[in-house]
Amino acid sequence: MTTATSLGRPDYGIDAPGVVRGLAIAGVAALALAGIAVWLAIIWLACILGAIGVALLISSALTLRNALYGKFRHRDRILDHVSWRGDERVLDVGTGRGLLLVGAVKRAPRGHGVGLDIWSTRDLSGNSAERTTANLAAEGVAGRCELVTVPAQRMTFPDASFDAVVSNLCLHNIPGEARTQAVREIARVLKPGGTAAISDLMFVNRHAATFRAAGLTATIDGPYLRDAFPPQKIVVARKPL
Ligand SMILES: C[S@@+](CC[C@H](N)C(=O)[O-])C[C@H]1O[C@@H](n2cnc3c(N)ncnc32)[C@H](O)[C@@H]1O
Repeated sequence: MTTATSLGRPDYGIDAPGVVRGLAIAGVAALALAGIAVWLAIIWLACILGAIGVALLISSALTLRNALYGKFRHRDRILDHVSWRGDERVLDVGTGRGLLLVGAVKRAPRGHGVGLDIWSTRDLSGNSAERTTANLAAEGVAGRCELVTVPAQRMTFPDASFDAVVSNLCLHNIPGEARTQAVREIARVLKPGGTAAISDLMFVNRHAATFRAAGLTATIDGPYLRDAFPPQKIVVARKPL
């Protein structure tokens, strides 16, 4: 568990910063090559490279826009799938800088939140338990939250520990069988009667199938094109009483 260290403006970082940068660089390179093609009077090639360059730059801009603004609206969309009583114990899997964790404990003012992560800076800029702790303090919820550094596929919580489990853009980062194991872990730590709301951009049908194999009901919401680029779907899994 970490403790609050500083108060300030919360900063939730840029998701997949390397992808945003890579798309922008590739887009500029494609436009530069299109310029050379124009100079060589190979107009068909200039048109293709120009179209690719514009598409890459738009993708980079949309990914950045989502990371800066859209993800707050998508967070609310994910949290809306839980019927909050106000006293839940909630787990955010791959909490990063605490985006869902903060939203969840604000919906559960008498509850407690746990943010689990391995703090990968490849997946989220400036990702660290210290920065997340500072965000929790700035949002006024540090006293009701704890951060745990363990991989999602090897959770250390007892069975049936949480009323709700939420997650955004985490599970697709986990390779192969470990990703399926992470979904099984979510099912295991969820209390009977509890809800898991898991948003991701890939493998969502497989997440749902893994929940069903573990005895939960699972439906898929989306895809959402607004406020979530690349488009995301939300698996809503409920554990029978
Ligand atoms: C794109 S970020 C999203 C962070 C946060 N959920 C949000 O919406 O802002 C993905 C997060 O998943 C975490 N992550 C990746 N693999 C993980 C694993 N095996 N176990 C736990 N967290 C993991 C990364 O460290 C990162 O914080």
